Amino acid sequence: MRRTSPEVDRDQVADGAARPADNGTIWHRQTFSVPYEYPVAFTSGLFASENPVLADVLGALEPDRQHRCIVFVDDGLLATRPALAEEIRAYAEHHRERMILVSEPLAVPGGEKIKFELHHVEEMQRKLFEHRIDRHSYVIAVGGGAVLDAVGLVAATTHRGVRHIRVPTTVLSQNDSGVGVKNGVNLYEQKNFVGAFAPPFAVLNDLDFIDALPAREKIAGMAEAVKVALIRDGDFFAWLEQNADDLVLFARPAMSTMIRRCAELHMHQIARGGDPFERGSARPLDFGHWAAHRLETLTHYHLRHGEAVALGMALDVRYSVRSGLLDEAAEARIRFLLEHLGFRLWHPALEKRMASGRHAVLAGLREFREHLGGELTITLLSDIGVGIEVHEMDEARVLQAVEDLKTRAA
Ligand SMILES: NC(=O)c1ccc[n+]([C@@H]2O[C@H](COP(=O)([O-])OP(=O)(O)OC[C@H]3O[C@@H](n4cnc5c(N)ncnc54)[C@H](O)[C@@H]3O)[C@@H](O)[C@H]2O)c1
Ligand SMILES: [Zn+2]
Repeated sequence: MRRTSPEVDRDQVADGAARPADNGTIWHRQTFSVPYEYPVAFTSGLFASENPVLADVLGALEPDRQHRCIVFVDDGLLATRPALAEEIRAYAEHHRERMILVSEPLAVPGGEKIKFELHHVEEMQRKLFEHRIDRHSYVIAVGGGAVLDAVGLVAATTHRGVRHIRVPTTVLSQNDSGVGVKNGVNLYEQKNFVGAFAPPFAVLNDLDFIDALPAREKIAGMAEAVKVALIRDGDFFAWLEQNADDLVLFARPAMSTMIRRCAELHMHQIARGGDPFERGSARPLDFGHWAAHRLETLTHYHLRHGEAVALGMALDVRYSVRSGLLDEAAEARIRFLLEHLGFRLWHPALEKRMASGRHAVLAGLREFREHLGGELTITLLSDIGVGIEVHEMDEARVLQAVEDLKTRAA
């Protein structure tokens, strides 16, 4: 806001952008907006040579150029699909007029371990440095939400942001995290303490990847579908109820619809919710998450994110009923669906205490508020499909809700 040159100030004053204040300070107001747009594809056989999706995306901006790509692949995925690295290599070879791999596809630790320690991020950045990845190259991440979060951070921070293509390979990353605008890793035992808002260049979902995913992971990802249905779309909740038998069997048509609808609702919230980079205090997509994040940490990530979200939702639904916001019949439907899908709605970590004797789960409220940076905003339910924001949680009532969950589980 310092004066730079008299000419600049005159121009600014002339178009009304600078306002002399009483004390002589000159204020400029800098404004510009950058529209974000990225394609989200649902395809199958993404790395089959005849599938044009990836090659088309790479060539979207400079169609006649050979694009340099570095590919990081989740090692848990590679364990179940050992031929994948070769498939990616063959794909690049087939589409060499658009795509050059700067190295073999690089295996990175799958699951939360990649987010635990910053050295994984630094090692990936070293690869980008060694292979001279620039702002016109592509960083492609193939894997679960944890790998996408960590590679996304690498891409967002190297050269202040290089093009990043996400290939989510779990239910949760296809229906939720992969289509969003956030990345991050954990630090000081806090989830996503280090991260950035950085929309990807493209998101390419391939349902074939889900086949190899362990059943527990497939179920865990469905929690986010229940979540977004509960806060945004009662019809989708009814659809989940009607198709729960097929979902439990992981029937492909039902899984495909569930993933797509859930991803659409998340995309809609980000694009139309008015706050894609979460500058305000509300995080409507984080229904059930204040307790979930805490439970993940308390169980040292033995609970999957989706499992923790199911518990967090059961808790906030119970709290909503105890607060007189939601009726018991709605709660019964929600609990029935979650249990039918295979979620357990009790975990001993809910009653874990800290050295002070205080319930450890309650610290989740403080952490949630600190992460938001402002006033506490928690989404509760007033009906199926209708979220409602509150700015205070009564701790005694939270603990009563915990007790209720325990009693019901018994
Ligand atoms: N950025 C966001 O907006 C956002 C939103 C929600 C969740 N997340 C984060 O996502 C992470 C959870 O992601 P997740 O649920 O996808 O699990 P995950 O990334 O932890 O992966 C789970 C396991 O599945 C393996 N795996 C991945 N794909 C596979 C496949 N196709 N076949 C077999 N194994 C496979 C992984 O190696 C890992 O062992 C958490 O860290 C969470 O915080 C981020
Ligand atoms: Zn989540």
